[in-house]
Amino acid sequence: MSVVILYGTETGTAEDVSDAVADVLAEHTEVETFDMTDYAIEDLDPANFYVVICSTYGDGELPSSALPFFDLLDEETPDLTGLRFAVFGLGDQVYEDTFNRGGEICAEKLSALGATQVGTHGRHDASSADKPKDLASDWAGEIIALAARD
Ligand SMILES: Cc1cc2nc3c(=O)[nH]c(=O)nc-3n(C[C@H](O)[C@H](O)[C@H](O)COP(=O)(O)O)c2cc1C
Repeated sequence: MSVVILYGTETGTAEDVSDAVADVLAEHTEVETFDMTDYAIEDLDPANFYVVICSTYGDGELPSSALPFFDLLDEETPDLTGLRFAVFGLGDQVYEDTFNRGGEICAEKLSALGATQVGTHGRHDASSADKPKDLASDWAGEIIALAARD
C-alpha cells in the first residue's frame, strides 16, 4: 500500500500543505503527490490510501485544479467501494456560510461513490493565526496510523 496525496488548489496553498503532509507521512510509508488535475480517475485504487487536500473558492466551490477530476467522477461514477481517504480542507472563516466547503464537497463526492472517509476532517482557517503547513503537519501526525495500516 502507498499513500497518494491529491491536492486541489487555486493559488498554491494546498500544494504547499501537500508537501508538508508528504514530508510527515514519508517517514512512515511510500508517498506520491499529485495535483488532482494530473491524476486519472482510472488510477484510483483501493489498494492505496488517499489524502485529499483541497481549498475552497468562489461561493463555497471547488478550486479550479479540483474541478476536472470531480467533473469526471460525476460523469463516470466509478465504484470506489473499499477505497479509504482522509481530508484536509482549506478555507477562510470570513466566508461564514461556505467555510471549508471545498474539502467537504470532496468528501461527499468520494463517499457517494462508495469510498470511506477515515480520521478527523482537517480544516484550516486562513483568518486564524495557524499556519496552514503547521496545522496540516500536526493533522498528518494524527492520520499516520490509518495511512500506514496493512
Ligand atoms: C475569491 C475567493 C473566494 C473564496 N471563497 C471561499 C469560500 O467560499 N469558503 C472558504 O472557506 N474559503 C474561501 N476562500 C479562502 C481560500 O479557500 C483560502 O484562502 C485557501 O487557503 C486558499 O488555498 P489555495 O491557495 O490552495 O487555493 C476564498 C478565497 C478567495 C480569494
